[in-house]
Amino acid sequence: MKKVGVSILGLGTVGGGTYRILTEHAEFFRRTQEVDLVIESVLEQDGRKTEALGVPAEKVAQNIAEVVLDPDVNVVVECLGGVNEAREYVLDALNAGKTVVTSNKELFCKFSHELERAAKRHNAGLFFEASCVGGVPIIRTLLDGVQSNEISRIMGVINGTTNFILSEMTEKGSNYADALARAQQLGYAEADPAADVEGFDAAYKLSILSSLAFHTKVPYTKVFREGITNISREDIEDGDSLGYVLKLLAVGKRSSAGVEVRVHPAFVRKDHPLASVGGNYNAVFVTGDSVGDVMLYGQGAGALPTGSAIVSDIIFASTHGEMRYSTFKNGAAPEKDMKFLSDFRSAYYLRLTVDDEPGVLAKLSSILAKYNISIVELIQRTAKGEAGKATLVLVTHETHELAVKNAVAKLNATGLARVESVLRVAL
Ligand code: HSE
Repeated sequence: MKKVGVSILGLGTVGGGTYRILTEHAEFFRRTQEVDLVIESVLEQDGRKTEALGVPAEKVAQNIAEVVLDPDVNVVVECLGGVNEAREYVLDALNAGKTVVTSNKELFCKFSHELERAAKRHNAGLFFEASCVGGVPIIRTLLDGVQSNEISRIMGVINGTTNFILSEMTEKGSNYADALARAQQLGYAEADPAADVEGFDAAYKLSILSSLAFHTKVPYTKVFREGITNISREDIEDGDSLGYVLKLLAVGKRSSAGVEVRVHPAFVRKDHPLASVGGNYNAVFVTGDSVGDVMLYGQGAGALPTGSAIVSDIIFASTHGEMRYSTFKNGAAPEKDMKFLSDFRSAYYLRLTVDDEPGVLAKLSSILAKYNISIVELIQRTAKGEAGKATLVLVTHETHELAVKNAVAKLNATGLARVESVLRVAL
């Protein structure tokens, strides 16, 4: 039976989950995959982590050189997180001809060209299923499940932390700060939650997924990004009364006009399949020209779900002779003739405070009309805590992002309305 030696760099949540799966399922892998996956070493300086997992002392490597010089190590699993040290260690491993499996989306997103070049030069594999949407096999689906299709859209809820926070605000009526504190208490959100709540994590994932889906390099810097830190309970409640649920949505589209990639909060109708993706769960839609819509749903984070993706990559690497690389031109920059669209189309939700007096609605709709924005739904109520003022909540027909930006600036400038919130509505 083929024996494959594995070394794990970092025994945090994901590395620990990988260690557990490899040790607890070794016999299952021998029986079902005909491969003997043996942990040769771990690189982890925190003795509490190695002890908690019962790692034998002789398997704890002292430095990266020990790992990459070990002829018994075939696959190096990078679960360090961060970019600097991880990049250096991954390059060391690839340059030594070791196949690398990583869960590091920021590293892969920013340096895939450099890592892939090193992998090709040394005939090593480079696998990254765990970098996007944890245990959900979206990368394998794009590479091996729907590769016969031209993909026009990839859309989903691809960050569990923000989905948990928005679900808490929706279901329990929590405000943003309390929901974030609860996410931190449960270990979903980091002490510094910026990567999740500002949408960076989702933007990195969308950059990787849309590069694979559209066969062209989509740098993360091209992803329009807006986080959830300004979301108020009022918006969630108003959306609810109009039949919508708020999600941090990632959307990638490719058409003859170019590529559009964006991460932002968006209302989805309560009967949309993404509306029922609650808590820290994730879901991704892929739309192909032959297959139509495919939806994958599952846990986008956590020790065992993400460990599942890593071990699946190790098995794939161990049981396939040929190495496989990007299906797009993986240079430092995108292809020269690729157009990235910034003025996308969407429907919009606006919450405004206006004077509660005759003629205001007429003036408002006439300003919107100048920007070719048409109202679908409208609610008016007395503004909370402001005498003589009214709150208007409206949803528009599909229009251009730029038109809405300009109309909002005009409304604020004329003093006719104070625009409190602008959110997109996914139709
Ligand atoms: N922090 C991510 C999330 C998981 O909340 O979905 C790792 O990408």
